[in-house]
Amino acid sequence: MTGTEFKRRRRQLMRMMGADSIAILPSAPIARRNRDVDYPYRPDSDFYYLTGFPEPEAVAVIIPGRRQAEYVLFCRERDPEKELWDGARAGQGGACERYGADDSFPIGDLDDILPRMLEQCERVFYAMGCNPDLDKRMSEWISGIRAKGRAGVQGPMEFVALDHYLHELRLYKSRSEIKVMRNAARISARAHKHAMQCCRPGMTEWQLEAEIVHSCATAGARHQAYPPIVGGGANACVLHYIENRDELRNGELLLLDAGCEVDYYASDITRTYPVNGRFTPPQQALYELVLRAQEAAISKVRPGNHWNHPHLAAVRVITKGLVDLGILKGRVPSLIKKESYKRFYMHRTGHWLGMDVHDVGEYEVDGHSRVLDRGMALTVEPGIYIPNKRNIPKAFRNIGIRIEDDVAVTSKGPDVLSKGLARDPDKIEALMQSA
Ligand code: GLY
Ligand code: MN
Ligand code: MN
Repeated sequence: MTGTEFKRRRRQLMRMMGADSIAILPSAPIARRNRDVDYPYRPDSDFYYLTGFPEPEAVAVIIPGRRQAEYVLFCRERDPEKELWDGARAGQGGACERYGADDSFPIGDLDDILPRMLEQCERVFYAMGCNPDLDKRMSEWISGIRAKGRAGVQGPMEFVALDHYLHELRLYKSRSEIKVMRNAARISARAHKHAMQCCRPGMTEWQLEAEIVHSCATAGARHQAYPPIVGGGANACVLHYIENRDELRNGELLLLDAGCEVDYYASDITRTYPVNGRFTPPQQALYELVLRAQEAAISKVRPGNHWNHPHLAAVRVITKGLVDLGILKGRVPSLIKKESYKRFYMHRTGHWLGMDVHDVGEYEVDGHSRVLDRGMALTVEPGIYIPNKRNIPKAFRNIGIRIEDDVAVTSKGPDVLSKGLARDPDKIEALMQSA
């Protein structure tokens, strides 16, 4: 993402905020893994979306129309001793020259400088409840300003949820964002293809996880957007199974849900296939049902349709299919009305996708399912998960299947970012046997 794109986003936000406003936005805190070891640092998505600034301990302040500086970045000072251990810091010079800040101050000066900026504004855009440390300081700054009331300082009158505004912006992806997402999906698709070709009975779930991570990392995507879900047999019925600790057994299916992150944008792909490379007839019947549901859902991803349309399409196909297979009993319309399919299909058909795997953006506006529009990106991921219950035909028990792809909404219809990765049972079998 270029500096121009970050600047354009800040401009868009400033237009939404209007005059006499201030936005305050911290990056994510460093997360401790154990004792003196931290997790690899990942900036907060909202913060990074506006700043492109990758360092921890930073706060962005945006004041539209402020004469001295509209965009002020508080960040760490240069420190040769610390930089020797942990790498270079941008410092105040770098914040302005490389990251487009109009002005920059050391993060340690926040308590001195920010209250004076706050007291000159009427409206504060801030995501309360996301950063307890900054919430506390914010309330101290505001109390301090109120205490000066008799001296004629009025301070802010209105608090506005900044996250709501930013998430509306983030919901609509630019061409360069879609390009990065397509690249992430392409790297993940290649990793899935590689995992399919490695898969053998007797391998373990964690070994396939390692193949996926290795393939993505070698292509430059060091981080996964979420922990891979690698579930053989009944483990596939645990929706967010990440233990990945069992052996893959002959005759069972494997559900593999993994997607890498590229330049802080996620991909999210699931494939389900036979561990030994050949579907049994009951596995194939259920698989084809999920595939038909996914095709029906993807065809509904177009501008003007509602967010709920792909889900309704998938629910219709799955309910009818489960009746045909004798897993559900009754009339399709009433089974849909009673949501009887939820015993076997308990999640939604997708979610927004972007900098976060379950990306931001409201799914409903004014009580109505959101209308899909160009630039939105979502996953389409129907599934069927059959528990081990006596009243279900034995051949179908303990099977979990999900097929998940990443789709952008365009005026020409659905643009499947993860296309090219086999989905048809025949193609999957051919791919696995060619290995
Ligand atoms: N990987 C989690 C999901 O598919 O939503
Ligand atoms: Mn997903
Ligand atoms: Mn997924």
